[in-house]
Amino acid sequence: MSSLEKALEKAKLADLDNGINEIKFSLPKSPEVNGDCLPSSTQEPEPDTQQRQAFIDVADKTCEKFNWAFLESHGYIKPSASHQQVAEEFRSIKRPLVINAINGAERGIERANMILVTSSVPGEGKSFTAINLAISIAAERDKQVLLIDADVAKPSVSRILGIRKGPGLIEYLEGVGTQFADIILRTEIEGLRIVPAGKTHQFSTELLASKRMSDLCDELSGRYADRIVIFDSPPLLAATQAEVLSRLVGQVVMVIEAEKTAQNIVLEAVKKLESCDVVLALLNKTKRGLDMNYYGYGKY
Ligand SMILES: Nc1ncnc2c1ncn2[C@@H]1O[C@H](COP(=O)(O)OP(=O)(O)OP(=O)(O)O)[C@@H](O)[C@H]1O
Ligand SMILES: [Mg+2]
Repeated sequence: MSSLEKALEKAKLADLDNGINEIKFSLPKSPEVNGDCLPSSTQEPEPDTQQRQAFIDVADKTCEKFNWAFLESHGYIKPSASHQQVAEEFRSIKRPLVINAINGAERGIERANMILVTSSVPGEGKSFTAINLAISIAAERDKQVLLIDADVAKPSVSRILGIRKGPGLIEYLEGVGTQFADIILRTEIEGLRIVPAGKTHQFSTELLASKRMSDLCDELSGRYADRIVIFDSPPLLAATQAEVLSRLVGQVVMVIEAEKTAQNIVLEAVKKLESCDVVLALLNKTKRGLDMNYYGYGKY
C-alpha cells in the first residue's frame, strides 16, 4: 500500500467530521515539523503596520480593499480575529509549508517557496484554501506572500476578495508589453500581493506551459526566494493546467473534500503529481474540528 493509500485509509478510519484536517503522505518526521520548536519566524506574531522590506515591484500603487463582509460570511480568515477557528486551523496547515519554504535548500526541495493548491475535481475548496493560506502567512510580520490566480479558465480569487480582475497572468504571458510589475495588485494586507488571472484565452494551457511562465517561476523561486508564492489552480482531473503547474512548483497542497471525493479519484489525480517533491494532503469540509487533526509532512 502506498503512503498515500495509507494516509487515506487512516483518514477514513478516523471518521473525521468537521473542519479542515491535514493528512500527510510518506513522512520522514522531524521534530521541528510536528512540535513547538518552530523557528521564531514561523510563530504567529501579531500583524503590525511596520514597514516591510520592499516587495516585488508593483507599478500601480493603488491599494486594493477586500470585501470583508463577503469573506466573513463565507468563513474566511479575518486577520484581526486571531482566535477564529479557521485562523487556528490554517496556523497548523501553513506551518510545514512555511518551514519547507524557509529550509528548502537544506531539505533538497527545489522551488520550495512556490506552493500550488489543487484538488482532484471542482469545488473541493482550492480557492478557499489558497486565499486563507495567503492571508494566514501574510499575517506574519516577516512574511511576504504573492497569491497568483492560475485557474485561468475559471478564475475566482478576484471575485471572492472583491478586487480588480485584470490585467493579470494571461496578459503577462501573452508577452505583448505587459510587465510582471503591471499585474501585481497591492492589497490592504501589508504582506500580501495578488496577481489576478486576467482575461480568458483560448490557449491558456499553452501559455501556462510556455517558456515565459517557466522563466517567471525561475525568477520567483530564485530572485524572490524569501517570498512565498501561492498558486490557486484548476482541478487535476478537469484539465491539464494543474499538472503543468505542478511541475513548476516545489510544494503541492492537495485539497480533498471529505466524505465526497472517492479514494480512487484522489489516487488517479495524485498520479499526475509524481514529479512533485512534496505533496501535502488537506482534508477539507470535515465535520469535526481541531481535536481530530493529525499532522505531519513529507515527500510523496
Ligand atoms: N472549509 C470550508 N468551510 C466552509 N466553506 C468552504 C470550505 N471550503 C470550501 N468552502 C466553500 O465551498 C465552495 C467551493 O470552494 P472553492 O471555490 O474554494 O472550491 P474550488 O476547489 O476552488 O472550486 P473550483 O474547482 O470551482 O475552482 C465555496 O462556496 C467555498 O466558500
Ligand atoms: Mg477555485
